[in-house]
Order: sequence, then structure tokens, then C-alpha cells
Amino acid sequence: MTDRQDLIEAAREIQTEAHVPYSEYRVGAAIETTDGEVYTGCNIENANYSNSLHAEEVAVGKAIADGNRDFSRIAVSSSRRDGVTPCGMCRQTLAEFCGEEFPVFCDADGEVEAYTLGELLPAAISEETLE
Ligand code: THU
Ligand code: ZN
Repeated sequence: MTDRQDLIEAAREIQTEAHVPYSEYRVGAAIETTDGEVYTGCNIENANYSNSLHAEEVAVGKAIADGNRDFSRIAVSSSRRDGVTPCGMCRQTLAEFCGEEFPVFCDADGEVEAYTLGELLPAAISEETLE
């Protein structure tokens, strides 16, 4: 298993790849699979403003496309002191693959707040909801 600090570092480092000409707000995410693989993602904005990709979506997308969909935890990082937590959409994206106890580490310029996905998104809609 990756050291928690290494996962946070990976989320921090990938911020350098962010494409953020509009918000100039860099976000990085690093998600760890239960096999110990780490997939990173950064936000990728678009001139139409509305279809930007979020860092968490990119990290999850890379893992899924690579055949990995069992996750153990995620770190999300922004360079701003006030920090970042996954937005509502990204919380739901995580809930598709991760349970309520799934740890979410939010890094704000070096200070880390740890949440569970259940805290961030109680009563998520899931596959079972649709059965
Ligand atoms: N952003 C993310 O990458 N993840 C989130 O969950 C929160 C928001 C990005 C989207 C946009 O490029 C910038 O942060 C400002 O909202
Ligand atoms: Zn988001």
C-alpha cells in the first residue's frame, strides 16, 4: 500500500499538468487501487467553460480504462491555502465505485483534512437504487 503522504504528494505533483487558463485554479488527484496502483489526474478546462474535466474524473477515468475499478483511497490537492474538496459531481463519480468508508484526503497547501466518502456524500444514488 502506498504511504498516505506519497499519495498526497502524487496529487500535488500532477497539478503541474493542469490546463487551467480560465480559472488558474490547479487541482490534482491521486487514486489508489486495492492492488496498490496509483492513477493521477488534473483538471482540464475548456474555452466553452462548461465541459471542463475535473482532476478526480480524470484519475478515475484513467484507472477504469486501464482495467482497475477497485479503489482504496484518494488524495485531492489544490495549491490554494483554502484548499479543495471534491465537488458534488466528483463525489457521485467516486460513489459509483467506492463505499461510504472510502477515505478522501484533501490537501490545502500542505494541510490535510481526512474525510470519508459517506461524510461528503450521504445517501448517494447507486446501482442498488435503480434495481
Ligand atoms: N475542480 C476539480 O478539478 N475538481 C473538483 O472536484 C472541484 C473543481 C476544478 C474544475 C475547474 O477547473 C477548477 O477546479 C475551478 O472550479
Ligand atoms: Zn469535481
